[in-house]
Formats: sequence, C-alpha cells, structure tokens
Amino acid sequence: MSSLLVLNGSPRGSHSNSMCMMSPVIEGWKSSGAPEPEVLHLAQRGEFERAIEHFPAADTVLLGMPLYTDAMPALVKLYIEALAPYVESASQRDQKPTLGFLVQSGFEEALHSRPLEHYFEKLARRLGSPYAGTIVRGSGWSLPLMPENENRALVTHLRALGNQLARNRRFSEAELRVVAGTERFSPTAAAWLSLAFSSPAAIPNSHWDRALEKNNVWDRRYAAPYADALPT
Ligand SMILES: Cc1cc2nc3c(=O)[nH]c(=O)nc-3n(C[C@H](O)[C@H](O)[C@H](O)COP(=O)(O)O)c2cc1C
Repeated sequence: MSSLLVLNGSPRGSHSNSMCMMSPVIEGWKSSGAPEPEVLHLAQRGEFERAIEHFPAADTVLLGMPLYTDAMPALVKLYIEALAPYVESASQRDQKPTLGFLVQSGFEEALHSRPLEHYFEKLARRLGSPYAGTIVRGSGWSLPLMPENENRALVTHLRALGNQLARNRRFSEAELRVVAGTERFSPTAAAWLSLAFSSPAAIPNSHWDRALEKNNVWDRRYAAPYADALPT
C-alpha cells in the first residue's frame, strides 16, 4: 500500500484554511483503504526539517498552501528550494514521489491561482516526479466559516479527489474543474463588483474600516510610509 506525505504550507499551521481544505482530501485517501498519511506543517521548524528528510521516501506527496500576493508563501518557496538536491538526483532514482498540490485563495476566481499551477507542473517535471495535478479553489476562507450543509458538495468532491489520488495517483480533470468553482467572473458580475468596491459606502470595505477604527489608525488610512523609497 502506498504512503502519502501531506505538507501544509500555510504559515497559520494546523488551524489554517489550507488544512481545512486538505482534511477531506485525506479522508478520501483513507477511504480507499490506503494507510494513514503523515501530516507535517511547514510552519513548525522541526516539521519543516522532517518534510525535507521524508520527501524522497514518500510514494505520494500532497503540498497545500494559501495564495499570498498572487504567489506561494515564502515558507513554501523555502521548502521547494531545499529540495534542490533531488533535482540533480532525480534522473538516477527509479522511484520518485508522485506530486499533487492544492492552492486555495481569498478571492473567489480560480484564475488567480493558475500561474502557480503551471509552476507546480513544471516543478514535478524538474524533480522527475509524476504529476498528480493541482487542486485550485477560491474563497478558501468559506470552508471553516460556512455551515456544514453549505460546504457539503465541496467536501464530497475534495474527498473524491483524495480517493482518486490513492487509486490512480492522479486527480481527474473533471473533478478538479468542479472543485475550482468560479474560474472567472462574467463581465456583468465583474462590473457590479467593481462598482461595489469603488463606491465610498462600499459594503465590502466596512470590515476593513472597522479594523482601522478599532486600531486608532483611521486618520492615517492613506499613509504611504515607503513612498519616498520608490524610484522616480
Ligand atoms: C499576506 C497575505 C496575502 C494574501 N494574498 C492573496 C492574494 O494575492 N490573492 C488572494 O486571492 N488571496 C490572498 N490572501 C488571502 C488568503 O489566500 C486566504 O485568506 C487563505 O484562505 C488563507 O489560508 P490559510 O489560512 O491556509 O493561510 C492573502 C492573505 C495574506 C495574509
């Protein structure tokens, strides 16, 4: 029976949205009869080291993370750079871990995470590993916040992906498309959202306005402390 190493790349560790989204994938993996995966949080120093050590012996690795400023968190980049020795040795080894990825973002549209997906496909090639695919999902915050019945369909599809990973070492394209949800807003929806965010009374801004007031920095909301450092 093949082994799975699950790596959580969120700096928020075990309470992160990334972990919340990977949990059903793990359940799906186990539902196939495959053994309990090892789960490591890269944000924990000791676990980060173990994640490097355990990488080459795993049959399958699932690396999940949030999207931070349209990229992977620095922690994940650091981890990938630590795998450099395996790039050199990839051609010499017969058995390479199959690599699967999960990227979840704050914004709803899946397209924000697509550049990372392309990067991961290339990374698997460079490491000489079979590529299982990348699970992409927007509105990652909703899974821990929304009631169970709102999340039921998503959780079911994430479990199905975990089961596919165990049985086929590959996510199905059809399941990945369903989990991705909104790929891109329609022009009409985009126009409405743009209006909502640009209006002075924008409802989406109220959360941030309250945080500014609570922290007594409302008067400094347009401060640009690094503006002078910009090249002219
Ligand atoms: C520093 C930072 C940068 C972020 N950048 C983006 C971004 O560029 N695009 C996006 O859709 N969400 C962005 N987000 C939102 C996170 O992707 C989202 O809240 C995610 O669910 C957090 O997952 P976690 O709990 O696993 O860390 C950012 C969040 C933080 C804290």
